Amino acid sequence: MKGVAFVFVLLVSFALHRRGSAIHKHFFGRGNFPVGYFAGGEYKLDCSTLASHLESPAAEKLRFCEDATLWDVLDSKGDIEDRLLIATCDSGRKQWNTVMGPLINPEPHGTLWLYAPNEARLGPKSRSTSSIPVEVRGKPRQITFSSYPPRHDFHPLGVAIWPSHGGNSSNLYIVNHARQKSVIEHFRLDPHKPTEANYVRTITSPLFIAPNSLTLTSPNSFYVTNDHLMTRRLPFVGNLLSGTETIFALPLGSLLHVNMYPDQLLQGPSPSTHISDTNIVKAFIPFANGVALSPSGNEVAVASTPGEVFIYTRNLTTNALKQKERIKMPFAPDNLHYEAPKEGQKARLIVAGHPDVIGLVKVAANLTGASAQSWVMAASRLDESDRSEPTGFTVRPTGWKLETLFQSEGLEDKGGFGTSTTGLVDPDTGTLYVPGLYAEGGIMLCRSNSDRSN
Ligand SMILES: *[C@@H]1O[C@H](CO)[C@@H](O)[C@H](O)[C@H]1NC(C)=O
Ligand SMILES: *[C@@H]1O[C@H](CO)[C@@H](O)[C@H](O)[C@H]1NC(C)=O
Ligand SMILES: *[C@@H]1O[C@H](CO)[C@@H](O)[C@H](O)[C@H]1NC(C)=O
Repeated sequence: MKGVAFVFVLLVSFALHRRGSAIHKHFFGRGNFPVGYFAGGEYKLDCSTLASHLESPAAEKLRFCEDATLWDVLDSKGDIEDRLLIATCDSGRKQWNTVMGPLINPEPHGTLWLYAPNEARLGPKSRSTSSIPVEVRGKPRQITFSSYPPRHDFHPLGVAIWPSHGGNSSNLYIVNHARQKSVIEHFRLDPHKPTEANYVRTITSPLFIAPNSLTLTSPNSFYVTNDHLMTRRLPFVGNLLSGTETIFALPLGSLLHVNMYPDQLLQGPSPSTHISDTNIVKAFIPFANGVALSPSGNEVAVASTPGEVFIYTRNLTTNALKQKERIKMPFAPDNLHYEAPKEGQKARLIVAGHPDVIGLVKVAANLTGASAQSWVMAASRLDESDRSEPTGFTVRPTGWKLETLFQSEGLEDKGGFGTSTTGLVDPDTGTLYVPGLYAEGGIMLCRSNSDRSN
């Protein structure tokens, strides 16, 4: 196994050298990163992992986390009561990773987590109390499942949830890289009992080739990326073909839009009746990874892991997309999320990823002493006025400003945090959450220095 991994690393290095112009130089040759940097405060003082809030053996389950999302719990008038973190983790990832390999043992299952900050976010005008019970706050809690089919695998990747309104339950969707094929699980989560998700159904489609990340367009519809066309699941040649597709950044990823029948209207138990229609809205995206819908609903962002983020304008009626912009990233972007905008401000796009892909491949192959760096950035669109350069010579405007929110050398035994896959910012508190694909600490939580008391 290690030999195979090593050859793979060599191949990657070679291919990246050959494609040096297309793929950013940060991919190989590790830059100098600090142990940890957090833009909103002081890394040493303000950042700690969620696993460090738990005792063994629960702490060992909260590791190797991929995606996370913020769950808005709104009152009946639509004002925010609470904003909670929901995250997917898989402590068995080194034995079962359908994207990077290996595919050895799907048996230990992944987990779903909830983190509710100590204080609710009740606005000054709110007269209600939050639906979220006090006893779940302040510590990460594993979300258990009710009515989940027996012997049904759970290897979660992308997660998305619809906000709760006036205490009603939210539809929750999770990409599941199960043993036979990848599917999407539909659950419902009740804010009064947020540590137990009710299983609704399993959604399958022949077009779910390698589903990775999803974003909801309604409680019953979503965009989902397929990261590859040639997957590691293919018998005998899977590793080679999937590796080739990754290394040469072949444009074989895609983006689907899926409309489902609301489950209340389902006639029979047949899964094929769950989906009303599926459209391939974009094909030929190299390694399509994270996808996010903007708060306005007019824009969709897709991370293409070889080094770019594509911005599309969305037709709200048909969900068709038209490419508008591309943002070149100084790392391999993984998941991305729009920050809920504060009043009068534009929504920032928070992009997390891997500045050291070779390091990540070594970590995935479990090589002794391997580590991989973390980098999270916020991208904001520049106005025309921001773009004009006061200096004499012209600088070609890129249209987007990139700011670093978080960085780490990735050495956990030295207090760092590696393999960042996602970045989420709670705009009301400035809290930053960063899951790490192979981080023993699971998820990094950094409180803004203006919010140290909470
Ligand atoms: C990874 O390596 C560690 C120690 O080097 C070992 O304990 C563990 O079993 C390995 N995991 C896998 C999946 O090979
Ligand atoms: C909860 O209420 C909101 C607003 O009325 C609605 O959009 C949503 O579909 C409801 N969710 C469920 C699961 O019924
Ligand atoms: C969305 O698509 C429909 C159907 O093609 C078209 O009639 C409509 O003009 C489009 N809307 C926008 C804003 O482009």
